[in-house]
Amino acid sequence: MANDTNVTWHQHQVSRAVREQSKGHRGCVIWFTGLSGSGKSTVANTLDHLLTGHGFHSAVLDGDNVRHGLNAGPGMLRETHGEDYAQRFGLGFTAIDREENIRRIGAVAELYCQAGLIALTAFISPYRIDRDRVRATMNPGDFIEVFVDTPLEICERRDPKGLYKKARAGEIKNFTGIDDPYEAPVSPELTLLAGERSPEMLAQEVIDYLAASRIIP
Ligand code: PPS
Repeated sequence: MANDTNVTWHQHQVSRAVREQSKGHRGCVIWFTGLSGSGKSTVANTLDHLLTGHGFHSAVLDGDNVRHGLNAGPGMLRETHGEDYAQRFGLGFTAIDREENIRRIGAVAELYCQAGLIALTAFISPYRIDRDRVRATMNPGDFIEVFVDTPLEICERRDPKGLYKKARAGEIKNFTGIDDPYEAPVSPELTLLAGERSPEMLAQEVIDYLAASRIIP
């Protein structure tokens, strides 16, 4: 890996293999992608609940929550850090801000995976290249792309936060699916028909995949 500063990679004393052995399952990243309102967070949280109930170690990284902290927007940073800082580091919804959002989350999820956790990420992640770049940073089999395939009409009908309504009214610009693109995965490990099945059924489909892939026993 290119090294443009004087930093070197430090090998941890407790290896991933040892962590996985003590946890009784493999680490991995389950990358949910889909439109706003498609059900990503609901399925990720249901899955997290089921996995934890079975004694497995999982953790959810969720778009709205991460955008309150690690990837806060300029509006949130302005008050505490000032205008220049907010403009430089705050993330909104332009293509390049989404790219950086996904790059950071990918790096955090990879750390979770190395720590032997089942990382569940729920981000729209609308650009194929951004998701593929995250995949490329991981070992084969560690990145499980799950397309939460809910048609736009259903997401818009659900509109849990009233954001589609605002986007249609022009009050939100660059809203995914309305005036911003969503590039569906070409060959995801799993596709969930989240407009047709319950979150419990969908979470079980992911658990079946994890068992078939020997990530969990
Ligand atoms: S991305 O595209 O992956 O960087 O987005 P993500 O970090 O997952 O954040 C998506 C949530 O932000 C809210 N929101 C928007 N979504 C899409 N487009 C625009 N312009 C936008 N503005 C705000 C929205 O609540 C998304 O949450 P979910 O859970 O996906 O509905």
